[in-house]
Amino acid sequence: MEVLETGVLSGFRGVAGSDFFGGPQVKSFEQEWSDFVGSNHAVGFNSLTSGLFAMVGAAGVGPGDEVIVSPYTMSASATCVLAYGAIPVFADIDPQTYCLDPGSIRRRISERTKAIIVVHLFGSPAPMDDIMDLAREHDLIVIEDAAQAPGGLYQGQHVGTIGHMGGFSLNYHKTIHSGEGGIIVTDDDNLAIRLQLIRNHGEVVVDEMNIQEIGNLFGGNTRMTEIQAAIGRQQLHKLDFLTKTRINLARVLDEGLEDVPGITPQIVNPEDKHVYYFYPMHFDEEVWELSRDTFVRASQAEGIEMRQGYVRPIYWEPLYQRRVAFAGGNFPFDLIDPMPEYPRGLCPVTEEAHENSLIFGKFCRWPLTSDHALQVLEVVRKVWDHRGELRNIKF
Ligand SMILES: Cc1ncc(COP(=O)(O)O)c(C=O)c1O
Repeated sequence: MEVLETGVLSGFRGVAGSDFFGGPQVKSFEQEWSDFVGSNHAVGFNSLTSGLFAMVGAAGVGPGDEVIVSPYTMSASATCVLAYGAIPVFADIDPQTYCLDPGSIRRRISERTKAIIVVHLFGSPAPMDDIMDLAREHDLIVIEDAAQAPGGLYQGQHVGTIGHMGGFSLNYHKTIHSGEGGIIVTDDDNLAIRLQLIRNHGEVVVDEMNIQEIGNLFGGNTRMTEIQAAIGRQQLHKLDFLTKTRINLARVLDEGLEDVPGITPQIVNPEDKHVYYFYPMHFDEEVWELSRDTFVRASQAEGIEMRQGYVRPIYWEPLYQRRVAFAGGNFPFDLIDPMPEYPRGLCPVTEEAHENSLIFGKFCRWPLTSDHALQVLEVVRKVWDHRGELRNIKF
């Protein structure tokens, strides 16, 4: 209401000066978010998709560079690379964390590799120590996509703050949201200003701001409004409570699933904090002697909404299969000779996860209570008890 009463719904102007960096709500939100995660800078965006584009640009990625990405994530975490004429190279995931597997990253590094985009999928922290060691060894920039993991900790440190830059999504579906929105954090002053330039037509201010040496960036308008920031500030106060609710529900599900054969919840390293954007499980069709599809349909018939896997491996999408990202040919894929291919089997662990994982979304979040989680477990056991009959049912 305070913002509406001022009538200033966005404080940004694309000219040099204090307004270049946004209005009072955006600046306060950025300060509060950087205090929360313990970073030197936070830069607000209108979405994390915009933020990912900006991070790739700020990293200095250019045409023909390769960026290692995950195939098991929301499409923007891989596709942002193409905006700068660079090529996404898919490494495989680890079946336990669903995040990039450092061994697979190592095998995908080439002389052209410039950066790695690590996703903390489902709120599960990726193995950052090993990834940062690889990055140091090969002089790579590490971008953390912590869209689904605000408040998540890797060995006590906030995810998003371990690589060179990291970003969080504030879209409507996330633990906290501002309708749409994204926020990037970094400790690096140079990266922070580059992110700010890309966010707001940076090309027009570098002379006046006397920062020509980093003025090699074209900007856009990916600015956060005052309304988004004001909502984000209030939402940030609720994050801890909402995350605790998710973790408590996950613990009830973990315990209850211990005596259910053939469903294996994620094992979380006790030193890390998983924030359960989703609650993923592995489903073993051989143990159940039942297809995952039938299991899901039977659970749905009992009122339990469940997803079969998360998304299909990103490289299965036509963009990668046809290698057409822009009008007029195969740019940027054709910058590499021979052009990269994205065949089936490229990332077998991801393909297996896609075929055999189950995801609880709605059952792991406020306003549900442990009673709801117990009901979910009851349904799972009921489906187990009746699996013999279910084999013969046609849905
Ligand atoms: C892993 C991941 N990365 C990036 C994004 C993009 O965030 P936004 O919707 O804020 O653009 C999302 C959103 O769903 C996501 O889940």
